[in-house]
Amino acid sequence: MKKQIGSVNCLYHLPTVLVGAVVNEKPNFITIAHLGIMNDRPPHHISLSMGKVHYTNAGIKENRTFSVNIPSENLMTQTDYCGIVTGKTTDKTTLFQIFYGELKTAPMIKECPVNMECKLAQIVDFPTHDIFIGEIVQTYAEEAVLNEERPDLFKVKPLLFDMNSKRYWSIGYPLGNCWKVGMEIKKKMQE
Ligand SMILES: Cc1cc2nc3c(=O)[nH]c(=O)nc-3n(C[C@H](O)[C@H](O)[C@H](O)COP(=O)(O)O)c2cc1C
Repeated sequence: MKKQIGSVNCLYHLPTVLVGAVVNEKPNFITIAHLGIMNDRPPHHISLSMGKVHYTNAGIKENRTFSVNIPSENLMTQTDYCGIVTGKTTDKTTLFQIFYGELKTAPMIKECPVNMECKLAQIVDFPTHDIFIGEIVQTYAEEAVLNEERPDLFKVKPLLFDMNSKRYWSIGYPLGNCWKVGMEIKKKMQE
């Protein structure tokens, strides 16, 4: 029996990331989970949905760059903190070691095993939110989390965000190979 529960977003979980930008000439980090993948072929574009009230937005608009840093489970407390306090009144930079890449104005977090350096491509102007679409120009990854040159989820251990339970979740186990397990049905249909 299905129950109607209203307009409830059930797309969670989503990975929790720390978005970095230089705001008023100082690096700042904001916790973001409402993000998306725009395309899967280079140049790769990703989207961030960021409330207009946030301090970080001005820095992304000014420099037209930002970083997307993926914290592991061991950074849960710091990640949550960056989503509680604002750069308007609090310096969040002392939490992390910061480095810069080729764009020069996208601050990245050394302690996060994966960092994506992005160039702003477009802003979609929602009434309450800026949807920032960025092109990934470079990705930095700790060698220890790589498996054949790609981040291994088991090693990265991302923080999975669920708004419905308001909890961070841990990653589970792989179930099967994409574009492969469905072939079983395709083959049967062709028999
Ligand atoms: C787990 C988590 C996820 C969040 N995701 C988003 C998000 O996707 N979009 C958003 O606008 N705010 C999000 N926030 C809220 C901002 O991170 C928070 O308001 C932050 O303090 C703003 O920082 P700033 O003012 O320094 O930019 C999230 C907060 C937490 C704790």
